[in-house]
Amino acid sequence: MLAKGRALPREQTGLQVRYNQHMVLPALPSSIPVLVTGASSGIGAEFARQFAERGHDCTLVARRKDRLESLAGQLAAAYGITATTLTADLATPEGVDAVKKHIATASAWIVVNNAGFGTSGPFSHAHIERDLEEIRLNVSALHALTHAALVQNLPHRSGGIINVASLAGFQPIPFMATYAATKAFVLHFTEAVAEENAGSGVRIMALCPGPVPTEFGTIAHAGPMFSQIPSLPVDQCVQLALRAFDRNRVICVPGNGPTVLSALSRLAPRAVIRKSLGRVLKAGISRG
Ligand SMILES: NC(=O)c1ccc[n+]([C@@H]2O[C@H](COP(=O)([O-])OP(=O)(O)OC[C@H]3O[C@@H](n4cnc5c(N)ncnc54)[C@H](OP(=O)(O)O)[C@@H]3O)[C@@H](O)[C@H]2O)c1
Repeated sequence: MLAKGRALPREQTGLQVRYNQHMVLPALPSSIPVLVTGASSGIGAEFARQFAERGHDCTLVARRKDRLESLAGQLAAAYGITATTLTADLATPEGVDAVKKHIATASAWIVVNNAGFGTSGPFSHAHIERDLEEIRLNVSALHALTHAALVQNLPHRSGGIINVASLAGFQPIPFMATYAATKAFVLHFTEAVAEENAGSGVRIMALCPGPVPTEFGTIAHAGPMFSQIPSLPVDQCVQLALRAFDRNRVICVPGNGPTVLSALSRLAPRAVIRKSLGRVLKAGISRG
């Protein structure tokens, strides 16, 4: 929605209308379909629900077919939209290719690159295959699908991309070294691509949540990290994300706690941050 009493500032360039970043824009029209990766649970399922509530048709991507089909049925019944499922393992080239082909079937999309998981513990004890799978999913798949969505959207000067990074992406995190580094990639990459395409009509945003109660914590064994920061309910996390996306924000850190922590991690000396986090995570791991 446009802010009340505020004219839409814009810059005319020939026939093109260029929108500046950070201005309040109307929500993207519900005629634009949405594709959400990792829609079988947690933040991804909630993104699908809230976009469906806004009237967008949705494509739901993940590996667990039964979960996707059940959610698709619920969204179609509740909101009268078309919900399509696409079962794909995005840690594989075949899975990524299947989603790229699907993106090529519509003119412009809102793509939410949300699928991801975390690992924790000392890197010297890492199961290296699991870490590599994490890098393929959190980094490589997101990178490829951001490109696919961008080249599809740019000619239409429409659509958008939401890349789910994390509060973990603002600084190195000892004992979650690989996960934090994948999310640093997502944050920096998304910010750079957003700047390259400012004024293009394609909205690009990195979402950086702190703890949100989903299956993530159990899969990542992230209890020590989670216990330090109050968690944000998943519906509020996605509401704040969509509000920021409507405002054409480049980075959204949902919630007050994570906002303060992300600012601290930029202001405090790097050594202080990494040593404090190292102490906290190490103590948490030894407590079990
Ligand atoms: N929860 C938090 O505290 C938190 C905080 C910051 C950032 N994040 C980020 O938010 C995103 C969503 O996580 P979540 O909290 O909603 O966790 P979640 O409940 O575990 O959901 C993860 C989703 O990713 C999908 N996924 C996992 N591996 C996949 C693969 N190889 N191919 C395709 N899909 C795959 C899962 O579906 P299938 O298993 O069915 O494939 C599931 O739908 C992640 O990127 C995570 O890093 C979470």
